[in-house]
Amino acid sequence: MIDLKLPKPTRLEGIIVTIDGPAGSGKTSTAREVAGALDYRHLDSGSLYRAATFSLLRESINVKEWEHLTVSDLDLLNLQILPMDDKIIMSWDQKNISSEIRSAEVTEKVSYVASLPQVRKWLFETQQNLGLNGRLVADGRDMGEVVFPEAEVKIFLTASLEVRARRRLLEYIDPKSHDEMLDDEMKRINKRDLADQNRQHSPLVQAQDAIQVDTTKLTFHQQVKTLLGIIKDLTGIGS
Ligand code: CDP
Repeated sequence: MIDLKLPKPTRLEGIIVTIDGPAGSGKTSTAREVAGALDYRHLDSGSLYRAATFSLLRESINVKEWEHLTVSDLDLLNLQILPMDDKIIMSWDQKNISSEIRSAEVTEKVSYVASLPQVRKWLFETQQNLGLNGRLVADGRDMGEVVFPEAEVKIFLTASLEVRARRRLLEYIDPKSHDEMLDDEMKRINKRDLADQNRQHSPLVQAQDAIQVDTTKLTFHQQVKTLLGIIKDLTGIGS
């Protein structure tokens, strides 16, 4: 069940900034930092797809059945997605699942789940509702193109496959084992990129009006600064 207890919009509180891009391009960490700097809410849309995947796995629904699930079936999952202040809390069976949704098992299946049209339909309204009042930085694959086509600022983050794999490894593996694991991580990321780019519904594409930022040679601090600069130039918002 998705329970959005948001107040009805009374006024637009701010703009919408979308940050899309392939796996490991730094969207989520950058979006979180940019949202913090602007005092905006952050929507990590990938975490919604991860939470849906986690629920399907945990509720032991056979993978072969997933493509036949309807929106009403998905509503019966024991998943709660609740905005709380400027965070979005996801729980399954009343337990916070923010770490569990990052597991290798979920990562392996999430692109398949995200390719299912009924899952996208089910999560679409949730995402749009979170942006009703504006004041949102949303990151994902189709934020600028499909979910928030009217966003004031659209960014498309890229980086070379090797740099993205290195950054991903840095998040969870001892740096000493990086070199031997790099090839496998590059393969995993590439597989997910291809699945996201080639799926029929809402594939990963750069929105026509998005500004591309290549972060291959940028530090995290530089990429946050670059995005805040773009937002300031385009809208006058931020410092
Ligand atoms: O952080 P990372 O780039 O590894 O992935 P994520 O943002 O957590 O998203 C996980 C998966 O969800 C992606 O590989 C996509 O398959 C899917 N996704 C999507 O289809 N649409 C979005 N707006 C966000 C994520």
